[in-house]
Amino acid sequence: MTHNPYPPDGKLAVLLPGMGAVATTFIAGVLLARRGLATPVGSFTQMGSIRVGDRTERIGAFVPLTPLHQLEFAGWDVFPDTAYEAAVHAEVLSDKHLKLVRDELEGIRPMKGAFYPEWVRRLSGTHIKKAPSKARMVEELREDIRRALREKQCDRGVAIWCGSTEVHHSPSAVHQSITAFEAGLARSAPEISNSQLYAWACLLEGVPFVNGSPNLAVDFPAVQELALSRGVPIAGKDFKTGQTLIKTILAPGLRARQLGVRGWYSTNLLGNRDGEVLDDPGSFKAKENSKLGVLDSIFEPAENPELYGQMVHKVRIDYYPPRGDAKEGWDNIDIFGWLGYPMSIKIDFLCRDSILAAPLVLDLVLLADLAQRSGAAGIQEWLSFYFKAPMTQPGQSAVHNLLLQMRLLKNELRRIQGVAPVATPSAPTLEEFEEEFEPIAAPAA
Ligand SMILES: NC(=O)c1ccc[n+]([C@@H]2O[C@H](COP(=O)([O-])OP(=O)(O)OC[C@H]3O[C@@H](n4cnc5c(N)ncnc54)[C@H](O)[C@@H]3O)[C@@H](O)[C@H]2O)c1
Repeated sequence: MTHNPYPPDGKLAVLLPGMGAVATTFIAGVLLARRGLATPVGSFTQMGSIRVGDRTERIGAFVPLTPLHQLEFAGWDVFPDTAYEAAVHAEVLSDKHLKLVRDELEGIRPMKGAFYPEWVRRLSGTHIKKAPSKARMVEELREDIRRALREKQCDRGVAIWCGSTEVHHSPSAVHQSITAFEAGLARSAPEISNSQLYAWACLLEGVPFVNGSPNLAVDFPAVQELALSRGVPIAGKDFKTGQTLIKTILAPGLRARQLGVRGWYSTNLLGNRDGEVLDDPGSFKAKENSKLGVLDSIFEPAENPELYGQMVHKVRIDYYPPRGDAKEGWDNIDIFGWLGYPMSIKIDFLCRDSILAAPLVLDLVLLADLAQRSGAAGIQEWLSFYFKAPMTQPGQSAVHNLLLQMRLLKNELRRIQGVAPVATPSAPTLEEFEEEFEPIAAPAA
């Protein structure tokens, strides 16, 4: 049951399991932006606007979001580096920026991580908790959350997983209900992953949990049952940044013009720690699944067999250390037009992974907190805009088209504020939107 959000009074703790490249780029950026030393480019909540009736308002003026100066940061990592040391190691931000916020970053020390190494085989963490069972590990994480909130004088928090991608797995019997999961925690079931321990602890503490990786952290029935029963929002999964962002901008345009696609080959070169972790086939499998899903949902090959029925979609990731965080996303797209004549498009996106991800972290923190203050619980589908593999209500299929996702997001903000959705072609009402774009309401085949 949702209601008008209560005001964002007091401080909000941002809890970050995983304080690597993305997390530290996000923290440093917020510290700089709130001192007026940099612009939070790429953040919808800070830079975006919304049409309301016959006027346009900035997002921050329209919905009551927590101001940047009220954010406090805490987190966990399996390495003891401070946020400053981790940011230096990540080599994303230059010294020009880091030196301005060095003191504040040095004051952010990760708590010890909950880490069973079989889930991230390329990492050998040293800063880890020891607990006799996974149930006890959850209790330790809960104590961490309570202590962090107390020390930072925050009365509420939001957690956002910026930790590594775990080995691919599917939900098993232990993931099906709260009772089964709790029994699994007590016997340290091997099917329960690290990110699931954090998610479980956060929900038990009433802290919304957002998942920036392809992990199953909050993507299984038991955790969704817990989120609903505790009245806590969850969202995921896998930040939509570089190549997938471009894909979900371009593909809807090709579809709108009824241009056919024979093949879409994508490869990524990246040399950061994330790339090193993804070099393990188990972790790559999780990432590949989340990257592969997007095109079918946009092209709907079953409904458009002449245009997309034969399409081959391949995704590769190569760990190439010299690149560091400066990723190269390369796409070769074989399309065809009038009478079937072939053409091709080449995209070479020389991007920066964490620079693209950091504004999404900020938006998701503020919007998950808004959802919590509005009384929302469970999966927040309207946050699909931010994810490669958006989580949906059971039985529904995800929307991947970036512009449709933007409409869904804005219409939810209007709904939260009790304002009628704008009924123009550029911003249809949610009902029109649902009628026009059936996949949002139709059960998956
Ligand atoms: N554009 C992007 O950068 C992007 C896009 C989509 C998704 N992601 C995902 O975001 C996550 C973070 O990416 P990154 O580039 O910052 O990676 P990173 O390797 O720099 O940081 C991840 C951190 O998580 C820590 N970690 C791993 N397991 C942990 C545990 N159990 N407890 C606490 N800490 C743990 C690692 O030690 C590391 O410091 C990855 O899962 C990545 O796939 C990133």
